[in-house]
Amino acid sequence: MERLGDCSVLLLQPQEFKLFQAFILAEAGITLSDKKHTLVQTRLTSRIHQLNLTSFIQYYKLIVGKGGAMEAQRAIDLLTTNETYFFREPKHFEMLRELAKAATAERRGLRVWSAASSSGEEAYSIAMVLDDAQGALPWEVLGSDISARMLRRARNGHYPDVRTTHLPLHYRRQYCLKGTGVEAGTLLVKPELREKVQFTHVNLVKPLVDIGNFDVIFLRNVMIYFNLEQKQQVIARIATTLKPGGTLMIGHSESLQGIESNFQLLAPAIYRLT
Ligand SMILES: C[S@@+](CC[C@H](N)C(=O)[O-])C[C@H]1O[C@@H](n2cnc3c(N)ncnc32)[C@H](O)[C@@H]1O
Repeated sequence: MERLGDCSVLLLQPQEFKLFQAFILAEAGITLSDKKHTLVQTRLTSRIHQLNLTSFIQYYKLIVGKGGAMEAQRAIDLLTTNETYFFREPKHFEMLRELAKAATAERRGLRVWSAASSSGEEAYSIAMVLDDAQGALPWEVLGSDISARMLRRARNGHYPDVRTTHLPLHYRRQYCLKGTGVEAGTLLVKPELREKVQFTHVNLVKPLVDIGNFDVIFLRNVMIYFNLEQKQQVIARIATTLKPGGTLMIGHSESLQGIESNFQLLAPAIYRLT
């Protein structure tokens, strides 16, 4: 590893990159292609400087060494991709609304899991649909992610306007507060709705802690990072938490092709557990 110019740029050598590739694969199931070399270099450099370390290998030893668990979580936070926004892939929310109305007719509150919720926009979008369609019925939303940093953001429920372009106006009025003064250009999910959404740490590639059973699971735009074997295991794990006849939503660029499961395709990227 070398330093360049003003000493602020660290160069990640190919053999060091391989170590971080192996780390994130083992810890999060994420396959980082060789094209992600610059991304890893950029995302880790400032953390290495913050810690007054001088090389990537020192940082690697820190995160895999004894007592390195907290910094390993920090590295996971830095190496995951967290792109999300309100009402992404809107067909899923239309389907959720139909399911919620049918359950309301039976006086049944739905339990829904946003299984890679990132900074929380997906979980709050689900909560808006449920609150609107189910009102006072005992509906529940659980959001989870591997990234502790994203979970902190999700619990705050405070977002820049750019993430809210697809948020329907009536939901925005009903469930959000518009930032003013120094908060202009932002939106805060109202406390009444925030209180109804729980967030917890779940690593999808490790055995699941007991989080109960769900009527609907959103598992969107996370399987793209997993290889086939991991996808198979994650889908098998997810299926154990879905009630019989429950619904699974995956990202529109993802598929369950090549995976053995009891899921039946209902509509694009929507499956039912048989
Ligand atoms: C691109 S975001 C998708 C967010 C949201 N589901 C959506 O579709 O807009 C992917 C999220 O998956 C999370 N993630 C990656 N690997 C994970 C794992 N092994 N377990 C749980 N979450 C993981 C990342 O931290 C990130 O927040």
